[in-house]
Amino acid sequence: MNEFILKVPKVELHLHIEGTLEPEMMWMLGDRNQIQLPYPSVDAIRRAYRFQDLQSFLEVYYAGMSVLQTEQDFYDLTWAYLQKAQQQTIRHVELFFDPQAHTQRGIPFPVVYYGIHQALQEAQKQYGLSSQLILCFLRDRPPASALQTLEQALPYRAGIRAVGLDSAERDYPPSHFRFVFERARREGFLTVAHAGEEGPPSYIWEAIQLLRVSRIDHGVRCIEDPQLLAYLQQTQIPLTVCPLSNVKLRVFDQMADHNLKTLLDLGIAVTINSDDPAYFGGYLGENLEAAQTALHLSQAEIVQLLKNAIEAAFVSAQRRTDLL
Ligand code: HPA
Ligand code: ZN
Repeated sequence: MNEFILKVPKVELHLHIEGTLEPEMMWMLGDRNQIQLPYPSVDAIRRAYRFQDLQSFLEVYYAGMSVLQTEQDFYDLTWAYLQKAQQQTIRHVELFFDPQAHTQRGIPFPVVYYGIHQALQEAQKQYGLSSQLILCFLRDRPPASALQTLEQALPYRAGIRAVGLDSAERDYPPSHFRFVFERARREGFLTVAHAGEEGPPSYIWEAIQLLRVSRIDHGVRCIEDPQLLAYLQQTQIPLTVCPLSNVKLRVFDQMADHNLKTLLDLGIAVTINSDDPAYFGGYLGENLEAAQTALHLSQAEIVQLLKNAIEAAFVSAQRRTDLL
């Protein structure tokens, strides 16, 4: 990896911790927990990581996480990611987790939460790597299930900064979750939502107007709506864009077609992130490098993207200054 990208201090704002499950760890945990995987080898797992769209990815993603059973498993998963983050000079990370994907398999909420939380605390202590946790609701599950999940999270709210919305986007508009998000905001959570990855620009408007989000996750389809572009430019609501994810899930055919430079040139608060790095072929450094190469980004543009992420992070004014 190019030395500047590797060494420059970075902030990651769009990372699903379950999406950091590398084939080797899936295999190891499957063995440790006596879970039968539908793959005969680590290589076969890696070969299954080829996708046509978001749905085909989600099927592999949810099947893979069946190996996550104990608090130690969630700790090991998170710790492996944090070591990777440290190697890539990531100084602050905001991680999503999908509690419903685990509670619906019978794993209690606190098992998931404590495993992740304790690894995050260890990274703060050992590396000075700061973090925030974002609880994501699965939008292809009923809003009542999201509300129940929010209630399960209330005892742990000191360790959870925001709620988000992920999983299959088409036909699951943000408006379905208006009341859940209102409750979350009353309880003191910030809000974010995946919108405009595969779904239309109207979902981005709904996320802004109904869910009152602080950031839009992905958001690349904003390009189709001139009024929305003007609004994003004016308000500087950040987009957490994930270049390798967008190519792997065929939101764009190839990296050279990605619109992030166009959005950046329009003065929109674009950030670069990794989404599900174990599945999409790279962590934050690889995402920055792939975008830089294909879109001919200058060093000044890379610096702007990194500054946008610091500005968009859920951190104190003091920490923001430290990160700059
Ligand atoms: N989009 C929606 N849901 C997800 C994603 C994504 O890119 N990754 C993990 N869950
Ligand atoms: Zn995502």
